[in-house]
Parts: sequence; structure tokens; C-alpha cells
Amino acid sequence: MIALGCDHGGYNLMVAVKNYLDKNNIAYTDFGTDSEESVDYPVYAYKVAKAVTEGGCELGILCCGTGIGISMAANKVKGVRAAVVNNEFGAEMTRRHNHANILCMGGRVITEEQAVKFTDIFLHTPEEGDRHDKRVDMITAIENGTFEE
Ligand code: RB5
Repeated sequence: MIALGCDHGGYNLMVAVKNYLDKNNIAYTDFGTDSEESVDYPVYAYKVAKAVTEGGCELGILCCGTGIGISMAANKVKGVRAAVVNNEFGAEMTRRHNHANILCMGGRVITEEQAVKFTDIFLHTPEEGDRHDKRVDMITAIENGTFEE
């Protein structure tokens, strides 16, 4: 199950992402927003972050105007690794190397076609282990206040 959330600035991208998920029979839970009326992006970041860390959703997708504010808010929730992606290489590498669990994109930065492409890559790229596991564990240690240099 994929958790989806956006503000008004990312609404156009989220419509395109939902069409892609529908066409490919990929299940999702939509946490809104549901129009281009102005809303506060942290509300949707929090809902998706909780769905991914505690609600049984494997991955999340968040969109705002830039992808930045909504990623900052999501990354405040323990266990979230939210990444702003602006190109295909980033979409792949943030799964392979950073084990990102939330993809963030900006409706005022990329096109709907790019958002669909990045979503497809993000959802179909596996996490690589070994040295990457170790580094992601270090991120978690920073988050937990147990990191030692
Ligand atoms: C809303 O105008 C805009 O600030 C928001 O969508 C996002 O870009 C914040 O980072």
C-alpha cells in the first residue's frame, strides 16, 4: 500500500501519479488534499509519514510546490527518509542507496510526465544492502541520538 499526500502546489502532480497507480493496479491510500485550494503542507506530510512508519504503508509519495517543505515536515517523523527528487537518477539512487521511504516532488518544478516516471522508478527500485545498510543505520543513529563518530 502506497500512502499519498499533497498540498495545493503539488495537487496537479498527485492527480497524474494517481492515474498512473490506477492504470497499473497499484493500491494506495490518498490522504489529500483534494483540490488546488490553499492548504498547509505539514498536515499532509504528517499523515503520510505516520502511515509509512506506523500505518502499514510500505512507501509514500508527497507533492508540494517544490517538494522541499513537505519533505522537511515528513523528515521530522522518526523513521522517515523522505527525498526530494528532480531527475530519474535521483529517483533510482535514493531507493538503492538511501533507502528512501517517501518520494517528494514539486508541482512547480517538474512536469506531470516526469512525476509519473520518477514514481515508476521509485516504486520498482530495490534497496541495496551492505555498505548502504550501514550508512542508513548511521542516519537512524543520528535520529535516535546514539550516533558516535
Ligand atoms: C505553497 O505555496 C508552497 O509554499 C508549498 O507548496 C511548498 O512549495 C513548500 O515547500
